[in-house]
Amino acid sequence: MALIDTGLDATLVGYTSAGFAARRLSVDEPFPAVSGKHVLVTGATRGIGRAAVERLASNGAVVHAVGRNEDALAQLVEETAGTVVAHTADLSLLESVVGLADDYVASGQPLHGLVNNVGVMPPSRTITAEGFELTYATNLLGQYVLTRRLLPALEVEPSRIVMVSSGGMYSAGLTADNIDSSEGPYAPTEAYARTKRGQVVLASEWASTMGEQGITINAMHPGWVDTEGVRDSLPRFYRLTRPFLRTAEQGADTIVWLIASDESSDATGEFFHDRLARPVHRLKRTHDEPDTRRAFMEQLADDAAPFLAPQQEN
Ligand SMILES: NC(=O)c1ccc[n+]([C@@H]2O[C@H](COP(=O)([O-])OP(=O)(O)OC[C@H]3O[C@@H](n4cnc5c(N)ncnc54)[C@H](OP(=O)(O)O)[C@@H]3O)[C@@H](O)[C@H]2O)c1
Repeated sequence: MALIDTGLDATLVGYTSAGFAARRLSVDEPFPAVSGKHVLVTGATRGIGRAAVERLASNGAVVHAVGRNEDALAQLVEETAGTVVAHTADLSLLESVVGLADDYVASGQPLHGLVNNVGVMPPSRTITAEGFELTYATNLLGQYVLTRRLLPALEVEPSRIVMVSSGGMYSAGLTADNIDSSEGPYAPTEAYARTKRGQVVLASEWASTMGEQGITINAMHPGWVDTEGVRDSLPRFYRLTRPFLRTAEQGADTIVWLIASDESSDATGEFFHDRLARPVHRLKRTHDEPDTRRAFMEQLADDAAPFLAPQQEN
């Protein structure tokens, strides 16, 4: 089975719905109940995030669904069985992220799970009102600030964090200088892949310190999933691969497994796909040096500093 599994990934068939089936995974498999556990999911109003919300809520969690579109959030709450609490925030704007995190911490509720799922691939280089490149702000920096500011709620009881990355990160090496795609011509897939690599590195860098706080953190990739995000950002890819794409439920499976399963409770600092830890490099050219990691972590800390509580700054 291990050989088949490796072959599935090497040929990219593993990313499709056929790969999900070949691994004998099922979205109907019950996970242990997460009754009364609080789980916050970003990018919750559609696609993979929405599927994760639905699955976690049906499994008994109190799901805090974050989105920027109030109507879509209201619809999600109405249509989902179980307890879903809507939180409005624009996750590309760090002041908005700070407001979301601080409101949550002030509510006094513990947080047992955080799913950093929001992700974008803008067609052209776009700068937010706060001066950050949009892909970087949404896919990485905002998630850095959200996670750090939520730590007081995450530390209360054992908790798990999931960074939703992408198989696209295999094409990118780690960069500190160009994490905001300020150098060279802008290519959406490259800008996206750089931030997705960044999420995987962040999970591995944070794992040991967070372990001391009773928190596990893992990255994962969902495979190729039929969502509006893929349809809008990669229309040609979408047209070609549509019959083979996973459902959003299949894409969300490993997220829910990482949050809810007993099997995954000790895992930390890893990169998962279809419930197995995977290599973080497939190409020689993407391997990074300790200096690059240090510079990357410093860059994030510098950019995040104005948005962290004073005692949280490095
Ligand atoms: N689909 C795939 O094949 C695939 C493959 C690899 C990795 N992934 C990753 O999986 C995650 C989910 O992907 P998806 O395909 O489900 O994406 P999607 O269909 O585009 O959904 C993205 C969600 O994020 C929300 N969102 C976007 N920008 C936001 C912002 N600034 N503030 C608040 N919410 C915002 C969207 O809400 P609005 O309606 O307000 O925009 C939507 O609910 C992403 O991190 C993506 O990179 C997906």
